[in-house]
Amino acid sequence: MSVTAPSVPHSCDGCLDRREVLVRAGLVTMGVAAAGVLAACGGADTPSDVAPAASGGALAQVADIPVGGAISAKDADGNPLILVQPEEGTIVALSAVCTHQQCTVAPDEDELVCPCHGSVYDLTGANVSGPAPSPLPEVDVHVSNGAVLAGKA
Ligand code: FES
Repeated sequence: MSVTAPSVPHSCDGCLDRREVLVRAGLVTMGVAAAGVLAACGGADTPSDVAPAASGGALAQVADIPVGGAISAKDADGNPLILVQPEEGTIVALSAVCTHQQCTVAPDEDELVCPCHGSVYDLTGANVSGPAPSPLPEVDVHVSNGAVLAGKA
């Protein structure tokens, strides 16, 4: 049995030429990019408890971190962090990268929970349960004028 290619017409009134296809593809790509930017600017998928990577280099404001609780943040390179305020005015930063398979851990009341396989850490970063093999490492931060800044003072 042989198969022959269907005949292709040389012109088509309803067809797009190659240049028009490329232009339209570009517009579609731009539309997707614009939708992504809009989503990143406060869409429903943006977690409200993630501190923005910050004005003036601040990771967050101390006032935004609950005493006895934690918030998610990102450093200037986009690495996920957890900022904990165990007692008023004391800020501890932990890497939010799960030590199991590197998912992003998030605060959940007085615990830090990995959504991937259920590892749970306490607010010091110590393992409480789940497959994570080690605690969340601490990250150097300091406080200046009510702002949490990266690095040692
Ligand atoms: S990656 Fe966090 S529990 Fe597996």
